[in-house]
Amino acid sequence: MMDKSSNVVWHMHQVTHADRVRQMGQKPCILWFTGLSGSGKSTLANALEGELFRFGHHSYLLDGDNVRHGLNKDLGFSDADRVENIRRIGEVAKLFVDAGLIVLTAFISPFRSDRDLVRNLVGEGQFIEVHVKAPLEVCESRDPKGLYRKARAGEIKHFTGIDSPYEAPEQPEIVIDTGADDLETCTGQLLDFLVARGAVSRGG
Ligand code: ADX
Repeated sequence: MMDKSSNVVWHMHQVTHADRVRQMGQKPCILWFTGLSGSGKSTLANALEGELFRFGHHSYLLDGDNVRHGLNKDLGFSDADRVENIRRIGEVAKLFVDAGLIVLTAFISPFRSDRDLVRNLVGEGQFIEVHVKAPLEVCESRDPKGLYRKARAGEIKHFTGIDSPYEAPEQPEIVIDTGADDLETCTGQLLDFLVARGAVSRGG
């Protein structure tokens, strides 16, 4: 297929990625939260971002439900739409990393190949996959938006974990078990991991 943007030329900008990194004084990366609906991705990403902000880091949180109100409001939950959802989020996250930010993303992102695609969009070590793990029964019992109940009743089709697949990460950088630990513990585990890795520092 002919590339629609074949006559577009990449511009080099005066302010480089290295300049931005130096000015922001942090290592930009993507913290990619993946897991079932109701596993706690948004809650955890939100709590972590609060901590990063207090430490003086510059960050941005991209969240499934919010992005689907704007940029991706034309997309549904077919496999093809989920692939496109993650492709766009990946490209946005890449731009934010280029801008020097620590990007947190909270999307089910059920397909391994899509997550790997985003991993390959950014530099070595800049993609940190966080598997927010909780058994389906736990997520279903939480059912914060009442969507599992609707999916079981057949009112929502292609619901992840019910009649649409979730491919768990094989080698995520970190697994957080929200079925076993409370929010504060999970946030602390993530923070300790990121500090030990040198991705963030408690002094910003
Ligand atoms: S993804 O699969 O494309 O990565 P995304 O994270 O953007 O999903 O959106 C998931 C959110 O949309 C869920 O938290 C839930 O609130 C809502 N939702 C609505 N319909 C579905 C569905 N069929 N499957 C999963 N989530 C759904």
